Amino acid sequence: MTISKSLAVVILAAGQGTRMRSSKPKVLHELAGRPLLQHVIDVALELNPEEIVVVIGHGAEQVRDTISNKKLRWVVQEEQLGTGHAVRIALPEIEADNVLVLYGDVPLITSKTLQPVIKGIKRSSIHLLTVDLEDPTGYGRIVRDNNGEVQKIVEHKDASEEILQLTEGNTGILCAARLDLMDLLTKIRSDNSQGEYYLTDCIELCIAEQGRVNGIKAEYVWQVSGINDKPQLNKLERRFQLNKAQKIMENGVTLADKNRFDVRGELKVGEDVYIDINCIFSGNVQLGDNVSIGPNCCISNASIGNGVEVFANTVIEDAMIEADCSLGPFARIRPQTIMRTGSKAGNFVEIKKSEIGEGSKVNHLSYIGDAKLGKTVNVGAGTITCNYDGANKHITEVGDNVFIGSNSAIVAPVVLEEGATIGAGSTITKRAPKEKLTLERSRQITLENWRRATKGEK
Ligand code: UD1
Ligand code: CA
Repeated sequence: MTISKSLAVVILAAGQGTRMRSSKPKVLHELAGRPLLQHVIDVALELNPEEIVVVIGHGAEQVRDTISNKKLRWVVQEEQLGTGHAVRIALPEIEADNVLVLYGDVPLITSKTLQPVIKGIKRSSIHLLTVDLEDPTGYGRIVRDNNGEVQKIVEHKDASEEILQLTEGNTGILCAARLDLMDLLTKIRSDNSQGEYYLTDCIELCIAEQGRVNGIKAEYVWQVSGINDKPQLNKLERRFQLNKAQKIMENGVTLADKNRFDVRGELKVGEDVYIDINCIFSGNVQLGDNVSIGPNCCISNASIGNGVEVFANTVIEDAMIEADCSLGPFARIRPQTIMRTGSKAGNFVEIKKSEIGEGSKVNHLSYIGDAKLGKTVNVGAGTITCNYDGANKHITEVGDNVFIGSNSAIVAPVVLEEGATIGAGSTITKRAPKEKLTLERSRQITLENWRRATKGEK
């Protein structure tokens, strides 16, 4: 019978990240809209560990304030004395049998790749994740013996010419029994070129004490790549987005260009969805079947029903769009808006905290805020709901089949009853009765003796 061992994850995130050239701690820079450290924590959580300890140093307070999760424990490393020191000061916080070490600046690691690293850990053994590299510059090199067994890791800065030829690099990710790490990390010394306590020295020590190191190769370099500067951040951002694009295409979505597609959250899709270039999806977005999204649209936290057409340059935020609606081009749908089935918001239309009833149309140049529109309402071009009196917001209620003439100002609170017609150019401040034409407009006059001024005239 095998007794499953408990797991703790230590995430190293104390470094400054000087090369980011930013006042923000490195691990708080965002990839796909989430801090780098958050990516690593989310992967750690997928492993279901008993404990997660994050070692922070530079910008410790800011990091702690930004990343909140009840399961996390924080250890502050005042001075960055090396990766070995960082893990050592985390160990007293841990009770679990085994400890996995991850890095706050290696965001695209996956739980799948980590499975063989955390599985089957025995005493006096270390599971080490390595990677074959085209350009191993900067990486610690994995030195193996004739039987292919890992012997030690030599840091780039401490390596001889011969060792520098080796192309198997240390990812830094490893897993071992807590008690073994405790023992090894009290023995490592800092007599190297950087004067640091290297976590990597545990490998050679483990071997020296008749232990065994199991070098497990990662399949993809991007999964184990760290971020030190903005070009590297961008490289991994694009890799992440390309992976998302690939997955979504496999789910049947047609993308105009997989390189011009960004997801910063969760995107769920139905069948026969088409997405044009330069669209950004953030938060939780759901697209139904046969949805078509035009170029340059930003959609966040929205559910978009079957058959909806979103035309170019439309922005949708915190809204529910039911089936067969048509939005844009250049529409802005703001939070708490519900577009009922078959309704339309056309060009230069802004809708906020409103319900647009089934089949209703707001086609051109309008602002609709704090309003509830019934079915098959027609809102003429340039209609504005005046919802704000300088202190409070007020509601506009519009019944079914209302027709609002162009360029009307509807001053809330006000009710337009079912079937009412509002004459173009009206400023409506009072209830407009059912099935009647209501207008507010001075009478049109023509001055018979008027003449236009001419040049030079005094
Ligand atoms: C480390 C490994 C190297 C490996 C490389 C992979 C060591 C000694 N070397 O080198 O073999 O190829 O990663 O990228 O482990 N950190 C702390 N506290 C410290 C020192 C570092 O939290 O005192 C954190 C840093 O914030 C960083 C990570 O640990 O996220 C790695 O540290 P870094 O100094 O960048 O190690 P490398 O020289 O890249
Ligand atoms: Ca590094």
